[in-house]
Amino acid sequence: MASLPSSQYQLLPAEVSDAAVIHELDTLAFGAEELAQIVFDGHNPASNSLRLEQIRNSLQDPAVTYTKVMVDGKHVAQAQWVLNLDPDWHLKGEPEEKKKARMENAANPEAYGEFFGWLYGVRKRRMGGQKHLLLASLVTHPEYQGRGIGSLLLKEGLAVADKHNIPAWLEASAAGYPLYKKFGFEDVEIFDMDLTKYGGKTVARSVAMVRQPQGKSD
Ligand SMILES: CC(C)(COP(=O)(O)OP(=O)(O)OC[C@H]1O[C@@H](n2cnc3c(N)ncnc32)[C@H](O)[C@@H]1OP(=O)(O)O)[C@@H](O)C(=O)NCCC(=O)NCCS
Repeated sequence: MASLPSSQYQLLPAEVSDAAVIHELDTLAFGAEELAQIVFDGHNPASNSLRLEQIRNSLQDPAVTYTKVMVDGKHVAQAQWVLNLDPDWHLKGEPEEKKKARMENAANPEAYGEFFGWLYGVRKRRMGGQKHLLLASLVTHPEYQGRGIGSLLLKEGLAVADKHNIPAWLEASAAGYPLYKKFGFEDVEIFDMDLTKYGGKTVARSVAMVRQPQGKSD
């Protein structure tokens, strides 16, 4: 599919009033994946309201940049970046009780605990003590995928890592992995989660990835 010409889209900062749309798009774009169906279950009201609160808080966090892409007035994609300029970022962050509440209200607390245990664990093990830019989320509406929108968001975000000459970090889904490779991210750790334990049929692969500083600091 052809890339969108620059006259057809706008990259804008997302605002608190976008929280519900962001949540809907997350649910839609990840909904096709068995991992998301088991870990998140978009139909679970308690986990949905906690997730919405988390998005609202992120949108008001000065370390977070949330960018949305608008096409013909429609919100079709979003990226969430966290700029951790304090190397001790891992000693602060969200209180443990909030994480615990989200786990307890998850559709499947055990699956949620296994997935986020790995994700938060590898992030702290590998990036604790280092400044970095985290790509916390990247999502394009399924009808707009394959037209260069994810690439636009990545390019914009990575310019911030380059400005500070710091590494960029993410945990990739299978859908995002080829794109991140193209942008210079390298594998750090692979996590294969056996979903058959939770009634699923597949093994979902996630890959922790880093893009080293590019030495372009100004
Ligand atoms: C990963 C994701 C954000 C990519 O967004 P996107 O807007 O499709 O990204 P781009 O169009 O810039 O690039 C997509 C690349 O992946 C491939 N691709 C992804 N989805 C595609 C689709 N529906 N049709 C064609 N190609 C697709 C293409 O190979 C393309 O590379 P190319 O430039 O060599 O053609 C999007 O697929 C998505 O939202 N997936 C579900 C949520 C998810 O897994 N997010 C990543 C979390 S780590």
